[in-house]
Amino acid sequence: MIPFLWLILLTHIRWVNTADLANVSTSQVLNIFILAGQSNMSGRGGVINHGQNGLANETWDGVIPPECQSNPNILRLNAGFQWIEAQEPLHQDIDLGKVCGVGPGMSFANSVLKRDPSIGVIGLVPCAIGGTNISEWARGGVLYNHMIRRTEAALQGGGKLQALLWYQGESDTETLEDAKLYRFRLKRLFKNVLRDLQSPTLPVIQVALASSIGSYMEQVRKAQLSINLPNVRTVDAKGLPVGMDYVHITTLAQVQLGQMLADTFLQTHQTTQAVLLPVQTETVTSNAPRRCSNFVLDLLLGPFR
Ligand SMILES: *[C@@H]1O[C@H](CO)[C@@H](O)[C@H](O)[C@H]1NC(C)=O
Ligand SMILES: *[C@@H]1O[C@H](CO)[C@@H](O)[C@H](O)[C@H]1NC(C)=O
Ligand SMILES: *[C@@H]1O[C@H](CO)[C@@H](O)[C@H](O)[C@H]1NC(C)=O
Ligand SMILES: *[C@@H]1O[C@H](CO)[C@@H](O)[C@H](O)[C@H]1NC(C)=O
Repeated sequence: MIPFLWLILLTHIRWVNTADLANVSTSQVLNIFILAGQSNMSGRGGVINHGQNGLANETWDGVIPPECQSNPNILRLNAGFQWIEAQEPLHQDIDLGKVCGVGPGMSFANSVLKRDPSIGVIGLVPCAIGGTNISEWARGGVLYNHMIRRTEAALQGGGKLQALLWYQGESDTETLEDAKLYRFRLKRLFKNVLRDLQSPTLPVIQVALASSIGSYMEQVRKAQLSINLPNVRTVDAKGLPVGMDYVHITTLAQVQLGQMLADTFLQTHQTTQAVLLPVQTETVTSNAPRRCSNFVLDLLLGPFR
């Protein structure tokens, strides 16, 4: 798979020149979200395997629930680095060689727009690749570089990077050693992304795994839940229905997950919008209740705690 990816990336690097990058001009704010991780982020909702005796013969059922419909205010950065109106499956030209279906991205975007129509246009940057482990996402690797490059391209036409949505971990549940190293690797990844994108306060919203085929799911889940970086928020996949393949969450689960991600994003966003300015100017003198400014204080003081 890696040589194949390389080929694709190399072709892109040749094709893309700055003139093509992120062709969007909108009078509204473009809110940019990175979607990264493995197959559940890429989306397998509605993918059915018709193969027998363990053979793979997969197709996507094409069912797009109302919560995942396209909307002129939801764009997607395609593999050619252009903004186009987003449409399921969001990762079809990114997570190549797989049958992609419904993921959480469209449900997330529709839910954010529905509840905060004033936010403007949403720009999704799909980067997830099925079956990948956290080591393959390490800084300097193909997947990492691709994600950073796509995000930088997305930002070229203006807009604001609003969050990284991350759903990964299943591929690290197979050996005890990987599961033990997961926390360190995940934390390092998040820190590197914030640094390389020069966005130290970028919210990271991750999904905690709920089950897996590997034996060490509990260790990986614990690692996810224990990430104590101030801008990391966690949404729990526990209870979301897993499909007939026992490997991926279903279309309806993806709809629900997208809404949970939107809830978490909007809470973070509103807190930041409402409190950031006063706190920044009044950090020392303000007697404002700590309760609602904890998040921002955490962001500012995080490194010292
Ligand atoms: C895959 O499944 C479809 C739908 O059941 C069937 O029509 C097709 O022949 C199968 N293809 C292969 C290669 O088995
Ligand atoms: C960006 O360019 C592509 C290719 O020219 C076009 O299909 C797409 O609609 C454009 N996107 C927007 C949002 O204008
Ligand atoms: C991660 O995946 C790569 C490629 O499949 C593999 O070579 C490597 O051993 C895996 N690493 C870990 C720590 O599982
Ligand atoms: C997809 O997510 C579900 C729920 O967390 C989990 O049980 C499953 O292992 C995940 N599958 C993959 C391939 O990540």
